[in-house]
Amino acid sequence: MNAHPSFPRSGAVPLARVVPPAGPLGTLALLRTVVRNPIEAWPREVFHEPLLPTTFLGRASLFVMDPALVRAVLVDQADGFEKSEAFRRSLSPALGDAILTADGARWRWQRRAAAPIFRNERIRGFLPAMVGAAERMRDRLAALPASAEVDLSAELMRTTFDIIVETMLSGHGRIDVARVAKGVTDYLESTSWVFALTLAGAPAWMPYPGRRRAETAKHYLRDELARLVAEGRRDGTEGRSDLLSLLLTARDPETGRAMDDTDVADNLLTFVTAGHETTALALTWALYILALHPETEAAVAEEVRTVVGDGAPTADDVDALTYTRQVIQEAMRLYPPAPVVVRAALDDLDLGGHRILKGTPITIPIYAIHRHARLWNEPDRFDPARFAPEAAKARDRYSYLPFGAGPRICIGLSFAMMEAVAILAVLVRDLRFRLRPGFVPTLKQRITLRPAEGMPMRVGRR
Ligand code: HEM
Repeated sequence: MNAHPSFPRSGAVPLARVVPPAGPLGTLALLRTVVRNPIEAWPREVFHEPLLPTTFLGRASLFVMDPALVRAVLVDQADGFEKSEAFRRSLSPALGDAILTADGARWRWQRRAAAPIFRNERIRGFLPAMVGAAERMRDRLAALPASAEVDLSAELMRTTFDIIVETMLSGHGRIDVARVAKGVTDYLESTSWVFALTLAGAPAWMPYPGRRRAETAKHYLRDELARLVAEGRRDGTEGRSDLLSLLLTARDPETGRAMDDTDVADNLLTFVTAGHETTALALTWALYILALHPETEAAVAEEVRTVVGDGAPTADDVDALTYTRQVIQEAMRLYPPAPVVVRAALDDLDLGGHRILKGTPITIPIYAIHRHARLWNEPDRFDPARFAPEAAKARDRYSYLPFGAGPRICIGLSFAMMEAVAILAVLVRDLRFRLRPGFVPTLKQRITLRPAEGMPMRVGRR
């Protein structure tokens, strides 16, 4: 057994955050910042204003922070909006026109086709796969020498990747984890360029640094998934109820049409990427915070020992881990794995007294809403008590949006919460995590919110 690491506790260290620009950025500085790290280009007003009309290289755009207006865009008037051009151009080359990127009737039937796998009883049935992967990660980490440093974000990616492949592809999963993870990272690296170029009105063929690497990654990922789909068709769907089988047998209710292999592969790739990276990041940030808040880490360990004991958590145990869940919710407030959702108006319309022209990109900056001065008391302070039932009930539902809202709300919400609570419970009960002394992560937006240099930690048994 390892001695536990001897790093000093660093309770007084402030949590890492995005520092907004001091004032309006000039065109070149703005472009450079958007390419390097789009979230650092958000004007500081998004942290205290309800609504902010801006322009990007002469094109109008709107930030929406007021919960009532967020609700209008995502829920009440959801039919009046679609995913923005920049979002689609960033992701569709890899993910096609599948559930995350499609709109209208095409989106609706893909969502319906995938829904059965996210019913509550199915998700509870996935728990043993989640706990198994968490225990393998715990054993891997516990076997390391006390002096070894690991990148916790990479370890968590591996764990959630194993889970998504086991639960969604049940046994079809002969995938090279490391290569897929690199493929996803290489691809996501390109998205801020595509985002900036789209906002600047540049055509889709425009070259940019890293484009070739992104293309290679895209081809690798798409070829891997096409192979899985071909294997799935060959093996047949008889007696299987995984996502692949569901998609292969789905019919569009309006046209009676089945998905072709490309549709199925696009959706599988969407689920594999959307379904593992986000949860891994939620846990990476939660463990980062706990490493700086030893009293909270001890309280989580104590709750898990009381509720679960020494064994594997059951689904009822996970339901009963209320404090552990609050810690994850608060971690996702401070570090939402999906820090922004974007939409575009389908027609000219009025929003909060502002005339919006058709096609105007509407940014809902989840990260800024979660730290908004008018919505949160001491927004930068970590406090899991904010998610105690009474406190949560007293708040506007649309001031907290880690999974979005409305018809396009994350289909994997319950899956992700069960997974995150189960993994955090197993890891914190059995291990101690120590951040590299003095390490301050940089928050980097690449569709998701990642720690730019990973999360270097030492780990020992508790
Ligand atoms: C902590 C983990 C997760 C976070 C923070 C998260 C966040 C989000 C957000 C914010 C959206 C809405 C995007 C928008 O409105 O534009 C979304 C959509 C989606 N998520 Fe998640 N997600 C997580 C886990 C998962 C998991 C585990 C899966 C699958 C197993 C998944 C699959 C999807 C899919 C397919 C969509 C598109 C849904 C649609 O458009 O109908 N996500 N997610």
